[in-house]
Amino acid sequence: MPQPYADSRAPRLTTLLFAFVSSSTAFSPSWLLPRNRIAPLEKRTEQIVIPAPINVGPSQYWEGNDGPWSSFPIQVGSFHTDVRVFPSTAGYVTWVIDQDSGCPSGYVSNCIESRGHAIQPNQSLTYIGNSRFDIGIEQNLGLDADGDAFFDDVILGWPGAGVTPRVNHTTLFATVAPYYWIGGFGLRPTPANFTTQTSPQPSFMEQLRTTNQTPSVSYGYTAGNQYRLNKVFGSLVLGGYDQNRFQPTNLTHAFYGDISRDLLVNVQSITTDKGSPSNLLPDGSITMFLDSTVPMIYLPESACKAFEQAFGLTFDDNSNRYLVNSTLHTTLQQTNPSVTFTIGNQTTGGDTVEIVLPYGAFDLEIGFPQVANQTNYFPLARAANDTQYTLGRTFFQEAYVIVDYDRSNFTVAPCIWDNNKVNVADIKTILDPAYEKLLSGGNSSSGISAGAIAGIVVGVVALILIIVVALFLVRRKKQIKQKRVAELEAKEAGGIGKEGSIDTSSDSNRPKISQPIGGELGGDGAIHEADPTTRSLPQELGSQLQDPSKHGFSEMDGGEAYGTGKGWAQEMEGADHPIYEMPGSDVHELPVPINTNDYKPPRPPAQQ
Ligand SMILES: *[C@@H]1O[C@H](CO)[C@@H](O)[C@H](O)[C@H]1NC(C)=O
Ligand SMILES: *[C@@H]1O[C@H](CO)[C@@H](O)[C@H](O)[C@H]1NC(C)=O
Ligand SMILES: *[C@@H]1O[C@H](CO)[C@@H](O)[C@H](O)[C@H]1NC(C)=O
Ligand SMILES: *[C@@H]1O[C@H](CO)[C@@H](O)[C@H](O)[C@H]1NC(C)=O
Ligand SMILES: *[C@@H]1O[C@H](CO)[C@@H](O)[C@H](O)[C@H]1NC(C)=O
Ligand SMILES: *[C@@H]1O[C@H](CO)[C@@H](O)[C@H](O)[C@H]1NC(C)=O
Repeated sequence: MPQPYADSRAPRLTTLLFAFVSSSTAFSPSWLLPRNRIAPLEKRTEQIVIPAPINVGPSQYWEGNDGPWSSFPIQVGSFHTDVRVFPSTAGYVTWVIDQDSGCPSGYVSNCIESRGHAIQPNQSLTYIGNSRFDIGIEQNLGLDADGDAFFDDVILGWPGAGVTPRVNHTTLFATVAPYYWIGGFGLRPTPANFTTQTSPQPSFMEQLRTTNQTPSVSYGYTAGNQYRLNKVFGSLVLGGYDQNRFQPTNLTHAFYGDISRDLLVNVQSITTDKGSPSNLLPDGSITMFLDSTVPMIYLPESACKAFEQAFGLTFDDNSNRYLVNSTLHTTLQQTNPSVTFTIGNQTTGGDTVEIVLPYGAFDLEIGFPQVANQTNYFPLARAANDTQYTLGRTFFQEAYVIVDYDRSNFTVAPCIWDNNKVNVADIKTILDPAYEKLLSGGNSSSGISAGAIAGIVVGVVALILIIVVALFLVRRKKQIKQKRVAELEAKEAGGIGKEGSIDTSSDSNRPKISQPIGGELGGDGAIHEADPTTRSLPQELGSQLQDPSKHGFSEMDGGEAYGTGKGWAQEMEGADHPIYEMPGSDVHELPVPINTNDYKPPRPPAQQ
């Protein structure tokens, strides 16, 4: 499969660079002006605005025929039909229920509502009949599904929720598939490939990035559950994660080589505190796929046998489920055994993370059409072989998963259940590496073609040399005073650089990203240029004179000439200052994440 976002990266980087170049040249001429005649520069139009993460509000419904689970609202099509879906960590398209055939006769009477609402695909202008394709999920489990494919708008959140993220031309499927009672929202940025289309269709996640609606292709997700606190809805953040929902860990996993099984973890052991045997993974460590698309946990037969013995479960061949009768249900609720999954990067030892599922996580109900009458079941399934070992949505009730597609790594962390925290999101941003580089002024030589750098550097050096020589002659006598100014500025730059850089580990609530930082980088130098008290023009020129060639390069690769190590972003006057010097309102009063939960749906949540 092709790398999903290779295409978009190059032009973006070019844009950033271009903005930098144009801003440095924009500043330069003003250096030549005597201070008292510095005029505000014309406000530039090209700005780099780093978008904020999106906190997708839950629908506030509990639903599904194998849960109940917390769903999320989307609006589909130019006709903006409201439907509710479950986030799918394995899917890369959006699929919703087909109104015409998703609820055939014989299905439950409130079928359409119970399936999260449905759409009529022929209402879409891009719909053409007989375009049936595979949705591209769960082939390994034998649970693949197909549907009518078309392209249309998808908006995240309920209507009226204010600013809502939207993609205007995304791949949609209208499906019948009874196994997926509620539709799905694919979180994977893999492009969809249609045999009838010449080029692959970019994924929703990728399009959110290319339309500048998220700061990176990444997400944080946990499924929520009904047994903790007073029921806790799921949480989905795009372009970041909610720090208040999990216990930080030291463990990062690299993607597995096969992109369709990227989220593969080593489960070193599965144990229980009550019941015998306590070792529920008797044959040792296995690798399992994290997949919120399916409800159950798929384990090897030996592990299923251990679960059966420990908890008194029996497999029901008719429904293909571990059904739980009321006697056993009561017993399990009373003993409340918990099951601990130990995850590590190695098969044994090393750093590990423990995800503990109380019995509540397994205390689910299965309904029509899998069984005729709603009944309790234990969400455990027998895997036919190792390609089927899966940690389904059951696991996501106690695990917070952060996936970063730009860096090809992910984190699995235990959820925390603190009433004060789950109700207040603390959204942290994951930055695309290109943005990160821009803000931190890291080594810019990687990722940009040598030719481009050479061209830029040559231009910058030449311009600087001219200015340096001219002004050196004029300013020579003021050297001592200049040195003092230089010291002051260095301190200020250091402090500001620290604040201005994105510190995702900080527990401060202060907005840091969605500020118009980019505007400054884009060259709106007026504020800073016009302020003679902080502008230390002589010092800069003095430094350049000491080593002009070095200075030229340092602007590109790290600002060594100033000894701040902060990089070129800081060296541009105003690249860092604005974070403080801008009228505060822009910086501090902007809500950080887009929260599609601002609006409560004007309808009662469905009964669980
Ligand atoms: C998509 O289709 C093209 C051409 O048909 C093929 O070269 C490419 O490998 C396909 N990609 C995926 C992900 O299947
Ligand atoms: C869409 O399909 C349904 C049933 O298949 C039909 O009743 C309806 O008229 C169609 N609508 C349009 C706009 O074609
Ligand atoms: C992470 O690593 C640090 C340093 O090794 C250690 O002090 C800390 O306890 C670790 N945290 C966790 C959650 O393992
Ligand atoms: C309930 O299920 C358990 C094991 O699943 C079984 O041993 C028991 O006989 C069942 N009880 C009834 C009343 O069916
Ligand atoms: C695993 O089992 C499934 C279902 O029986 C089968 O379709 C698949 O080919 C098997 N895969 C391997 C690698 O044996
Ligand atoms: C991915 O790797 C980077 C760099 O090692 C690390 O800082 C980050 O926390 C990792 N992300 C996840 C989601 O694990």
